[in-house]
Amino acid sequence: MSVRNGRRVAIVGGCRTPFAKAGTVFRDLTAVDLAKLATRELLARTEVDPRTVDQVVFGQVLPSVLAPNVAREVSLLPHFPRTIPAHSVNRACASSGQTIAEAHDQIALGHAEVVIAGGTEALSDIPILHSRRFSALLVEAGKARTLGARLAVLARVRPRDLVPVTPAIAEPSTGMTMGQSAEKMAKENGISREAQDRFALRSHQLAAAGTADGRLTAEIAPVFVPPHFEEVVAADNGIRADTSLDQLAKLRPVFDRRYGTVTAGNASPLTDGAAAVLLMSEAAARAQGYAPIAFIRAYAVAAVDPAEQLLMGPGLAVPKALERAGLSWKDLGLVEMHEAFAVQALSNVQAFESRAWAERHLGRSEPIGEVDWGITNVMGGSIAIGHPFGATGARLATTLANEMRRRGVEFGLVSICAQGGMGFAMVLEAAR
Ligand SMILES: CC(C)(COP(=O)(O)OP(=O)(O)OC[C@H]1O[C@@H](n2cnc3c(N)ncnc32)[C@H](O)[C@@H]1OP(=O)(O)O)[C@@H](O)C(=O)NCCC(=O)NCCS
Repeated sequence: MSVRNGRRVAIVGGCRTPFAKAGTVFRDLTAVDLAKLATRELLARTEVDPRTVDQVVFGQVLPSVLAPNVAREVSLLPHFPRTIPAHSVNRACASSGQTIAEAHDQIALGHAEVVIAGGTEALSDIPILHSRRFSALLVEAGKARTLGARLAVLARVRPRDLVPVTPAIAEPSTGMTMGQSAEKMAKENGISREAQDRFALRSHQLAAAGTADGRLTAEIAPVFVPPHFEEVVAADNGIRADTSLDQLAKLRPVFDRRYGTVTAGNASPLTDGAAAVLLMSEAAARAQGYAPIAFIRAYAVAAVDPAEQLLMGPGLAVPKALERAGLSWKDLGLVEMHEAFAVQALSNVQAFESRAWAERHLGRSEPIGEVDWGITNVMGGSIAIGHPFGATGARLATTLANEMRRRGVEFGLVSICAQGGMGFAMVLEAAR
């Protein structure tokens, strides 16, 4: 399955910036800055010859209108020749999963030997827009030939035209925010506040352990924060080693203040960060003397109707990826699941384990498989580590590949839910 045109695609290296809660240590950086930091470190760590890189692909969900193709900014780092084509993709929270998939396809097709894939997000630097009417008046004023004509146009500006337009983390098609969608899933799937808080606690405890023992830390490129380069950030700053069920239980619901269960404690935080992955054809890796960490065996995307339960895409994408991989759930030795919200992860788990889901959505009589918590999100997940939308897929793939190697696991799975009802899944296999 993983061999197309006789070409297996290897993950050779991966690293990321620390993930920081929006408005904290990276508040003055842009998504481009963060993407460059992750990529520079990837180049340094892997010692890949930048001249051999054929393409750069980056994911970002809320790009700046000033630098809409972040991948090209990355490929213009001074380390690279200026002739490397680069493009950016948006598959919402699965964006950098998608960039790895695209790198895979380009390499498998023989269009590239070496690709850098990754993703970035600076939620401290979201694009805030003028109203449509104010923008139109500014354009009209810009075209005016005399000062008087310009002032006449500007005199038509009303106070309400000046109200800024801030992007909501909401579905354009339904108007529901992610948080409201999470609440809906909690109610319809009967997932209690306590179950969500327990899941969040587990995320923090395992992420704290993975940071303390160096497994997560090893994937992080310490950042000397510009412009003064005095402060060094070397770890994710949202992980709370000391949180407890009691503390989590005290937090007030955010998205349905009266009857809700989703809180700042059991949701992933708004986060700044970037991650990058180096992919090569097996032949190129071996020729350049690299020992691949893992190979990509298969991937799949799928979508549910966003008006139903928004974050259930993995319930369709995971079985599709497994089928393409020629594997079943029980073949998996490790699973890395994106945690947008505890309730979303638990709802996806319900779907994986549900015969009714399999019958209704997959036309199968048996559930996808039973989740083994001993092999799932073994270093926590996005609730604790953070979720810079564009970067999460590359983080998950890197963490999975490294841990598969440590544990000697044969097959591992990445699962990501995304805006628009989409799901993304990728199966990695051990590098042998
Ligand atoms: C939920 C959300 C609104 C919370 O934002 P916020 O209010 O800025 O969150 P904070 O980090 O300030 O936390 C709020 C409070 O909870 C506390 N808290 C958060 N997590 C906690 C934990 N694990 N243990 C104990 N206390 C915690 C904080 O200390 C803070 O307390 P304070 O007000 O006394 O300082 C925001 O994180 C969000 O929108 N998340 C969802 C993002 C999303 O939709 N993603 C899409 C997924 S695909």
